[in-house]
Amino acid sequence: MDYLTFEKVTKRFGDVSVVSESSLAIARNSLVVFLGPSGCGKTTLMRMAGGLDTPTTGTIRLGGEAIAGPDRRRGMVFQSYSSFPWLTVEGNIAFGMRYRDDLHAHQRAERVAHYLKLIGLEDFSKSFPNRISGGMRQRVAIARSLAAGSDVLLMDEPFGALDALTRERLQVELRQIQAEEKKTIIFVTHDVEEAVFLADRIILFSARPARVIKDIIVTKILGATRTLAARESQEFFKLRNEVLHLIRKEAETVR
Ligand SMILES: Nc1ncnc2c1ncn2[C@@H]1O[C@H](COP(=O)(O)OP(=O)(O)OP(=O)(O)O)[C@@H](O)[C@H]1O
Ligand SMILES: [Mg+2]
Repeated sequence: MDYLTFEKVTKRFGDVSVVSESSLAIARNSLVVFLGPSGCGKTTLMRMAGGLDTPTTGTIRLGGEAIAGPDRRRGMVFQSYSSFPWLTVEGNIAFGMRYRDDLHAHQRAERVAHYLKLIGLEDFSKSFPNRISGGMRQRVAIARSLAAGSDVLLMDEPFGALDALTRERLQVELRQIQAEEKKTIIFVTHDVEEAVFLADRIILFSARPARVIKDIIVTKILGATRTLAARESQEFFKLRNEVLHLIRKEAETVR
């Protein structure tokens, strides 16, 4: 079922067209990767989905309702570590629930414990962000969005600053978290391998102004379970190469 929909969305900043008319329907509980050349308008699309910016024309809807501003149902995780240095790991996770008047203190504590366990940081609950690794900090940012009650995670290059092995590990974990927590995720990256490994579906965007140039249902090709072994398979490389060619061709058009 379509859950998050972009309906004839365009975006201009003054004279500059950043998103040309784009329509897109994203199913609930799917992990969709937005892939496109640098500067094509991916962050702009995410900010509009997050309600931080508005389309020039067209509408973005969540569950049929037009998005009018930020909402706890849509959590955002960015590349730069967005944890609060003066709060502990558990404090950062609890911070996501600050507007949840519907939760009692014991429910908050249960949720913090649940998400700490999910991200495997039980032993670091009292640590401050500057004492944990970058990968751990991004786990905390994910847990904070989940604890807040987000149905949709909007992730803008969240693993961009991590080393290759940590990144790979977080990719595996993110797919597990998504399967367990049943979330709808839009994940922006310009790393083709990351896109192919993570995605149920890849939306490939053109150079600016962004428009959809290819819609790839990855689950049809690679199935739904991804292991690190699957990353070395023929099918994986074939798809990776196809996508790489498409995006290279697109990036060349702007030179
Ligand atoms: N607030 C703004 N005012 C004016 N121009 C903007 C604004 N935000 C973005 N732009 C322009 O819109 C274009 C797309 O930017 P955006 O950040 O969405 O691209 P991106 O695909 O996320 O790029 P990257 O891959 O480098 O993160 C850029 O040319 C940028 O300069
Ligand atoms: Mg960006």
